[in-house]
Amino acid sequence: MIDLVLAGGTVVTEEASLRADVAIDGERIVAIGVDLPTDGAEVVDVSGALLMPGFIDGHTHMDMPFGGTMTADDWDTGTAAALAGGTTTIVDFSLQDVEGTLAEAVETWQGKADGKTHIDFGLHVAITNLTDEVKQEIPSLPELGVSTIKIFMAYKGTPLFTADEDLFEALQIAREAGVLVLVHAENGDVIAKLQEEALARGDTAPRFHGLTRPELVEAEATNRAIRLAELADSPLLVVHVSCAAALDEIRRAHARGSAIYAETCPQYFAFSDADLAREGFEGAKYVCSPPLRDPSNRDSLWRGLQAGDLHIWGSDHCSFNYAGQKELGRDDFTAIPNGLPGAEERASALWTHGVKTGRVSEQLFVAVLAANQARIHGLAGRKGSLAPGADADVVVWDPDATIEVTQANRHGNVDYTPYEGMTLTGAPASVYIRGALAYRDGEVLAPAGSGRFLERSFRRPAPAAAVR
Ligand code: URP
Ligand code: ZN
Ligand code: ZN
Repeated sequence: MIDLVLAGGTVVTEEASLRADVAIDGERIVAIGVDLPTDGAEVVDVSGALLMPGFIDGHTHMDMPFGGTMTADDWDTGTAAALAGGTTTIVDFSLQDVEGTLAEAVETWQGKADGKTHIDFGLHVAITNLTDEVKQEIPSLPELGVSTIKIFMAYKGTPLFTADEDLFEALQIAREAGVLVLVHAENGDVIAKLQEEALARGDTAPRFHGLTRPELVEAEATNRAIRLAELADSPLLVVHVSCAAALDEIRRAHARGSAIYAETCPQYFAFSDADLAREGFEGAKYVCSPPLRDPSNRDSLWRGLQAGDLHIWGSDHCSFNYAGQKELGRDDFTAIPNGLPGAEERASALWTHGVKTGRVSEQLFVAVLAANQARIHGLAGRKGSLAPGADADVVVWDPDATIEVTQANRHGNVDYTPYEGMTLTGAPASVYIRGALAYRDGEVLAPAGSGRFLERSFRRPAPAAAVR
């Protein structure tokens, strides 16, 4: 039996781009081939479009407290934005309550998503208090369907900050438990010192956010995290890699054969430290960590993607309104909540800056948005590929669509977009989630609450298997 055939398009996988139809029965793909028999199924003509696996974003923060405020997007608006950009699955960070357990964090985040999410989702746990009890709890996470924890070397002075001895112990425990550690690699001690010096000088503007988090601060912590992972014989995922110096450390680790995975994000390609220095307080709209960098880093980062040293392209969507939220730091850049909205623009930004310029092949596009995300985040087989048996999550991609980005045409709940006034090329014309039409022509059709929780399990992929 076949319910639906997407006919006449070009199927793009991480291996090849081929003229083929996709046949769907219920929630699954059942066949891919040229001129498939339709047997009375609904036939949707997608000629001229590229058919890709639903994109996976392994790095979002929905309905999360940070810097004394809550993200502007909850699971309704945040997943609507992600879906409008072609994302059919996110893996979001459930934040441990300082006094709470990891299981409680997962339960709380499942409650936040319940009845609101438009797309499927998994959960990481972000550690805020690595007590002995919490260390003992880590091995039970896979039973909850959680295969990843995030540890922060930055944000000293907040509960997120984790000292080296605890990071090391967490890596040892995670290795035994089959859990992957994600690391935010910036030297929190050095940042705190540089921030103190800047504020004492009266340097309070947003651009000092970047100047107190120089590239070496990220490179040093990246190397330290990698070395601690090597000492613990544990794999590691370095998230939001922003600069050439940090990438160099990852490249060196790969030359040693270490199982280090790495993510980069569109904001490090679309924006720069010049945006942090925008007039007035506008730079606050571009405050994220690690910070936006000098554009000279970009060539290295593109090479990192091409060579397979950077495996995934995540959004790090962490949205705060300008009014009332970014404004908390008007007189002190350290009080600006860190993070940018970007789930909606993630794929189009890569198409515009990567594929259209010839730096990224269609195959690499699918690898870093879907296939490698699925492998690293424990979703392979179900998500991240167009293949018989996989969930029928399909992006019908219009390679020539142009979007004039402005806050009013965004699907999220933020009062600005950092992409304001930019033209992006390439966008989903429509999106299917588990066989159901979820998005078409700018309209989110999947109802709030239709997304499902995905149990994930991490299997250590060889670094070479996770790259193209
Ligand atoms: O600035 C950022 N990246 N905010 C989100 C929290 C994090 O560190 O990922
Ligand atoms: Zn982080
Ligand atoms: Zn993040």
